[in-house]
Amino acid sequence: MSIYGDYIKSVIRTVPDWPQPGVNFRDITPLLQNSAAFRKLIDSFVHRYQEMDLDAIAAIDARGFIIGAPLAYELGCSFVPVRKKGKLPFRTISETYTLEYGQSEVELHADAFQHGDRILLVDDLIATGGTMCAAAKLITRSGGHVVETATIIDLPELAGSDKIREAGFGVFAVCS
Ligand code: PRP
Ligand code: ADE
Repeated sequence: MSIYGDYIKSVIRTVPDWPQPGVNFRDITPLLQNSAAFRKLIDSFVHRYQEMDLDAIAAIDARGFIIGAPLAYELGCSFVPVRKKGKLPFRTISETYTLEYGQSEVELHADAFQHGDRILLVDDLIATGGTMCAAAKLITRSGGHVVETATIIDLPELAGSDKIREAGFGVFAVCS
């Protein structure tokens, strides 16, 4: 949990039964619409990672891009998109995974990283952890070193962050 965790949590909206019955959807759009909150969010990540000598921010399609791009800009790192299947034009490597509400596949350009590059992997939310695990595995396969995975919201009741840690990757969440 970060210094602004309680505040950030207070500006995230929960929409019950969306996109299907039984899912409590954490909607970050009120946070993004609030410029002070959005700045505090990015500052939370900058505060944690500014001394970690990162080479790149890898961000997961699509909501991960919203935090990954300003973070890469602030930290002076490169930005690498981890995209849903069929969106990247060059040679790719891929991993399939199971979501809280479906099945999906993420892809990475095969030349995205140099061996040993220090990568921070970011996404907006960890539910089952399947997306983050798949992306972290892809980065490792491509030669990058995942320094940590970072997210705005962790849903601990779904144990996704435990799964990511069991797979050997650290997890930082601004709030849960
Ligand atoms: C959401 C969210 C994470 C993922 C978390 O993405 O942004 O990427 O699900 O779920 P998991 O921990 O169970 O894997 P979604 O696939 O809905 O795509 P979007 O960002 O394009 O909305
Ligand atoms: N992705 C997977 N589960 C989610 C949830 N409960 N809220 C927002 N995004 C999600």
